[in-house]
Order: sequence, then structure tokens, then C-alpha cells
Amino acid sequence: MQSLALQESTGKEKKTMAEHRFWNTQPVPKHDENITDMGPIEPSIPVDQVSKELTALPKEFEWCELDMTIEKDAKELYDLLTLNYVEDDEAQFRFDYSVNFLKWALQPPNWRKDWLVGVRVASNKKLVAFISAIPVQLRTFDKSTLMTEINFLNVHKKLRSKRLAPVMIREITRRSHIHGIFQAVYTAGAVLPKPVSTCQYFHRSLNPKKLVECGFSRIPQSWTLARMIKHFKVPEKTSIPGFREMQQKDVPEVLVLVNKYLERFDFAPQFETNADVEHWILPHKDVVWSYVVEDPTTKKITDMVSFYSLPSSVIGNPKHKTLNAAYLFYYGTDIISKGTEDKHEDGTPKLLSKRLNELVGDALVMAKRLGFDVMNGLQLMDNGLVLQQQKFGAGDGHLNYYLYNWRCPDVDDKKVGLVML
Ligand SMILES: CC(C)(COP(=O)(O)OP(=O)(O)OC[C@H]1O[C@@H](n2cnc3c(N)ncnc32)[C@H](O)[C@@H]1OP(=O)(O)O)[C@@H](O)C(=O)NCCC(=O)NCCS
Repeated sequence: MQSLALQESTGKEKKTMAEHRFWNTQPVPKHDENITDMGPIEPSIPVDQVSKELTALPKEFEWCELDMTIEKDAKELYDLLTLNYVEDDEAQFRFDYSVNFLKWALQPPNWRKDWLVGVRVASNKKLVAFISAIPVQLRTFDKSTLMTEINFLNVHKKLRSKRLAPVMIREITRRSHIHGIFQAVYTAGAVLPKPVSTCQYFHRSLNPKKLVECGFSRIPQSWTLARMIKHFKVPEKTSIPGFREMQQKDVPEVLVLVNKYLERFDFAPQFETNADVEHWILPHKDVVWSYVVEDPTTKKITDMVSFYSLPSSVIGNPKHKTLNAAYLFYYGTDIISKGTEDKHEDGTPKLLSKRLNELVGDALVMAKRLGFDVMNGLQLMDNGLVLQQQKFGAGDGHLNYYLYNWRCPDVDDKKVGLVML
């Protein structure tokens, strides 16, 4: 299957450092730097010395904060993003995060309203740009740091290339500094100085006919649509005994399971409390679906797998308006405690590979049942053990991971354990 992947259309080709008028003034590594140590690039500023002044904006604009508990604010942000956020290179698809998704993504434990930063036109108060930060405890190799996770940077299409993005980034940096946080993590399709890791997108078709009609997939040469539909058929029922939807009572066990699993990676979040797991992993209506395996004998939770819903608007298609995409999210299995030494010839740990294929296979069954057209995933965590067997195809897109003010050696894609929304 050939498929398109959503990615930012800006800056696919690498600029030289001198051409990065903004980024070459920031504490980020240069493109050609080979980093072998870890730590801040510039020292933290004493909090009382952080500027209290808002970053200067062109005079026709003003800063605002969006309160996602207020329906009007949430809807305004939705309207900005649904018309102006990330598109693929051919402008066929545009991310269409739902209002409920945005409320969920922007209000995790310890969220702050002053980190949900908008820009309005001063004269008519129209929202024309946005950037957000949420707190994340991120471990890079053996060091764990409280950072801000920056996301949903967006400037209205009519205001592009006016250097508004650097102003947004400076302001969110200042607001991070005010709260004593001097490091950040962010992702982009754009190539900026300098990715700590780059992961390729993969897509598992669940509704081949619609994907072909939308121009997301093509029928492989010498195949028919009927053959494609048969190829991508998923079983009606899940396969693992004890596989069921995650419930509130599972939270403490899932906290231990997922943190233990994330220890396998060099670049991973730490879920610190039950509240974190309750927020990020417990099913959230129309946003996140999570399943656990409860051992039928011991009643212990042995595995967890989850995915989230991120539809895309299909632009200018006469038949379809929306592509319903599920994205593979966090998972974990206690099979790792049973040893991963027994390996196939290619080095794949046998038990882990078998278990993850069962888990993701069952997640695909659920996603199909829920009406998703495609399951997307990145080549990170242990996804490489399942992508081929579960009939994911490589997409055109890549996602770059970046750190702000944190030197860190390159991280192999298989060692990335942070899934950003
Ligand atoms: C990304 C976006 C906000 C950039 O705004 P813009 O009007 O195109 O660019 P501006 O003139 O304001 O700023 C250009 C600077 O921002 C940088 N930039 C562009 N995209 C960026 C990104 N995703 N993250 C960080 N910096 C980015 C550019 O590299 C450039 O800096 P440089 O000169 O040092 O290289 C805008 O293109 C947009 O809203 N795109 C659609 C949504 C999107 O892709 N969001 C980013 C998701 S990661």
C-alpha cells in the first residue's frame, strides 16, 4: 500500500544554520553537531529575573489566554485549527482534532491557562494564532527533567511568513521560564536544528475502499480493489483471553505496567501518579480507547494497549469529508519480565514480538469495530516488531523530535518512548 502521511508542508529541505534567522539565536544544537554529553545548553535564569513583560507583537495584534473549560474558547481554538492546522504536502488532508480532544490534550494534571496562548486581531478579537505548553516529566537516557511539551503551534493561513511563529515561541518560552522550567520537547514534520530523533509514519488500512476514494491509498499495481479489501480484512473478534476495556480500577496496575515498559526506551515520559494514567490512558469518550488483558486465573493486569482518534478533513473530495484515523498510543506488557533473550534469527525477541502482535492485532479489531478507516503509527517504541505482520505500510511522512535547551545524544527511533499528539 502506498499512502500519504500528514506532515507540515514548511521547510522540508534543510536550511543552513545562518538561514535559520530565528533558530540560530536559540539554545538548540546546530545541524552538524555530534552530541555525546547531556545537559542544558544555557543556564537557567533565576525566576525573579525572568521578564514580566509580554513579548512584543505587531500593533494590530494582542495576546490572549484560552480557557478550555469555557465552551466558546474551546470552539474558537477548534475553528482556528480545523481550517489552518497541519496539512499534507498536496493539501489533500488537514488534521481535524475534535473539541473534546483539544480539551483533553490541553488539560492534563497540572495544566495552566497561561500556557494556552492565543493571538487575536486587536480590532475584532478574531483568534489568529495559537501555541500551547503542558508539563511533562521526560527521561532522556538516565536523566529525568521536568519540561514543557509544546504543541498546536498554528498561525492563520493569511498571516503566514510574517515571522509571527518566532514571537509565539519566545512568549511560550518566557511563560515556561516564569514557572522555573527551562527545557522543552516538541515535534514537527519540518526539519529544524536539530532533531534528536526522526520517526517514519506507518498506516494500516481498515477501510481500503474509502482510503482509495479519498486519495490516501492507491491500489497496488496488478491488484484489484476486491483483493485489497480481502488483504486488509481484520477478524471480527479479539484473540487474547481476558482482553477487555480498561476501567478505573485498573489505573494503579497500569501505572506500574506502563512505567516499567517505558524503561526500555531512552527518550520517554514518566507517568508519576494515578492521576496521570487516569488522564492519559483511561478511556475518554470519543478521544482515547484503552484495553487491558486481565489474566483469567490471577486477575492480574498483564498488558495494556491504547489508541486515540484524530480525524482529518478530506479537502475538496466530492464523496468524503472526513478520514477517521486512529493513532497507536501507549502500550505495555509484562512479558518483558519473562525474558526477551530468546530471539529469532533477525534478533527479534520472540515472546515480546508474539505478544505485541496479539495486542496490536486486537487493537485493530476494536478500531475497525469502532468505524476507523485507518490506524496510523510511528516507527518508535517496539512498533517495529508489529508493523509488517499487522500489514502497516510505510507512509511518506516523518516526524522529527526536538529538545529546547537540552543537549542530548541522538536517539534511535526504536528507543523513542514519547508519543506526542
Ligand atoms: C508552523 C507555522 C506556525 C509557522 O508559521 P509561518 O508563518 O509559516 O512562519 P513564520 O514566518 O512565522 O516563522 C518562520 C520561522 O518559524 C520556524 N518554524 C516553522 N515551522 C516551525 C515549527 N513547526 N516549529 C518550530 N519552528 C517552526 C521556521 O523555521 C522559521 O524560523 P527560522 O528562520 O529560524 O528557520 C505555520 O506555518 C502553520 O501554522 N502551519 C500549519 C500548522 C503547523 O504546521 N504547525 C506546526 C506543527 S509542529
